[in-house]
Amino acid sequence: MSDSHDAHPVSRFSGRRFLILGAAQGGIGGATAERLVEEGAVVALASRKEPLKLLKRLKRRCDRVAWHACDVTSSESLQRLAERFEADSLDGLINNVGIEAAAPLDRQSAESVDRLLDVNLRGAIHATRTLLPALRSPGVIVHVGSGLALGGCQGFSVYSATKAGLTGFVQSLAWELAPRRIRVVAVAPALVRSPMTMQHFAHFTPETKRQIDACHPLGMGTPDDVAAAITFLASSDARWITGTILPLGWTPHYPLPSHVFFDSM
Ligand SMILES: NC(=O)c1ccc[n+]([C@@H]2O[C@H](COP(=O)([O-])OP(=O)(O)OC[C@H]3O[C@@H](n4cnc5c(N)ncnc54)[C@H](OP(=O)(O)O)[C@@H]3O)[C@@H](O)[C@H]2O)c1
Repeated sequence: MSDSHDAHPVSRFSGRRFLILGAAQGGIGGATAERLVEEGAVVALASRKEPLKLLKRLKRRCDRVAWHACDVTSSESLQRLAERFEADSLDGLINNVGIEAAAPLDRQSAESVDRLLDVNLRGAIHATRTLLPALRSPGVIVHVGSGLALGGCQGFSVYSATKAGLTGFVQSLAWELAPRRIRVVAVAPALVRSPMTMQHFAHFTPETKRQIDACHPLGMGTPDDVAAAITFLASSDARWITGTILPLGWTPHYPLPSHVFFDSM
């Protein structure tokens, strides 16, 4: 919806260290990394492929930006990542990792179901568990969920289940970590223009576009819109917020489209 964000305090995250899981140029993780660095944070990124373009942009502002190879579906890979961070060395963990595969359940292969669960849900839980010792108090964990965890949409039963699982995980973990002053929250974005979704757009019919418009009162979002919400939740302004799933660009009171990706298959 927004083309750019307003001016913001440059020192909101001065000296604070964040690890972002899943940060690619043009996506939500990449936009979050840029926003955090702009506001004074030191960030480390982790993903399977090195995001060279993003790293180049970030290093222009902060020469302490680091990237680590990590596949969240591998416990060895997560363990190697965790060994890079001393105990109590991170102010925040942002988990943006996610994949989508849209198809009616009877056309989803068993492998596709397992892959979605492994990356979006098991990966999120194991990554949080493995990296927990690195988080200091007070600290914050922000997961990127989805509006599809809060409302249904044809073709997304498995993806929705993974993100709804994440919602439950966040709500209960928030209670567990509150005594350590570590907040646990998630954002639940509606449709965002990112590499994950752009591949589908060329195939949308006018009816699909109409349905998307009808359920996004403020229009589709941008990665910057999500990054702004993530950084708010990660900031000390949100120090009284935990266990919350923040819907972005949509709420359960708006209808979801019934056929978003079917006509692109
Ligand atoms: N775009 C939307 O409309 C939308 C709406 C609601 C929610 N979301 C959620 O927002 C998040 C980010 O989406 P995006 O649109 O920004 O897509 P994106 O740019 O594709 O971001 C996904 C990130 O996850 C990483 N990743 C994927 N599999 C991984 C694995 N096994 N281990 C480690 N990293 C892995 C990717 O990097 P590598 O491939 O290099 O590993 C990439 O950096 C996802 O969780 C998605 O479900 C998106």
